[in-house]
Amino acid sequence: MIDFIVNRASCTRCGDCATDCPSRIIAIGDEGYPDIAPEKEPACLRCEHCLAICPTGAISILGFKAADSRLLQGAYPEADKLEILIKGRRSVRRFKPENLEPELLQRLLDVAWHAPTGVNSRQVRFTVLDDQAKVAQLRDEVMVGLVRMYKEGTLPVGAEYFTRFIQIWDRHKVDLIFRDAPHLLIASAPKSVASPKEDCMIALSYFELFAQSCGVGTLWNGLAKWAIDELLPETRHYLGIPDDHLLGYAMIFGQPAVHYARTVQHGPALIHRAL
Ligand SMILES: Cc1cc2nc3c(=O)[nH]c(=O)nc-3n(C[C@H](O)[C@H](O)[C@H](O)COP(=O)(O)O)c2cc1C
Repeated sequence: MIDFIVNRASCTRCGDCATDCPSRIIAIGDEGYPDIAPEKEPACLRCEHCLAICPTGAISILGFKAADSRLLQGAYPEADKLEILIKGRRSVRRFKPENLEPELLQRLLDVAWHAPTGVNSRQVRFTVLDDQAKVAQLRDEVMVGLVRMYKEGTLPVGAEYFTRFIQIWDRHKVDLIFRDAPHLLIASAPKSVASPKEDCMIALSYFELFAQSCGVGTLWNGLAKWAIDELLPETRHYLGIPDDHLLGYAMIFGQPAVHYARTVQHGPALIHRAL
């Protein structure tokens, strides 16, 4: 049941909902009001475009009422601000030794949850370590495993770059993998959905940009991902990541202990104008 309800008192019968429906399952009846036949409901993508496009807020679907959505007119950030956020975002590798406020952490995840997914599958799962002690515990477990592999000579070929970080931990207890971050986020999705890897990467990208706009530092963490997913796969169980999930990527985050004064410069974009 997708619960498609039209408030006839406010519906202007403009038909925008029917035109915009990606599955084209909204029909306009004799009186001009939109409707979805029960047999068409399974084709609904649950994208809520009908609710989003309705100029008068006459449509509710999936139990969501238009009145509970935010109005968009004039509410988007200015392009200049968004551009400076994208260009000013940096990989943060130094963090304050403190947890984020739980409300802020929840907000970051709730916003990232709005990232698009293939066929609107919406199956990205956020595994989050919400306390710095939990990240330190995970770090210790992972480092024990990595040091063991390093000493046994069982690290795979290609791990030479990684080896230096393991040695530095072993000798000096300096953490160049998790960077003493207070939080870790892993995005995973069922392998059975249309685009699990892409869904996870997009969700993390949205998370990162929104986090940085809130003053929270983030770092895509390929080394942690590699350790957790490939070198020490038992860590996946330890973290409760389901076996049928593709582990998309890992990101550490927290209050930055570093401040960047300006954007960097990447020169012109690499563009190929085809044909
Ligand atoms: C997919 C991906 C994986 C990354 N993995 C790591 C990592 O394991 N450790 C690290 O210190 N930085 C990692 N980075 C950060 C990059 O090194 C960084 O983006 C690059 O040096 C440019 O710096 P900037 O992000 O501040 O612009 C990763 C970045 C991406 C996009």
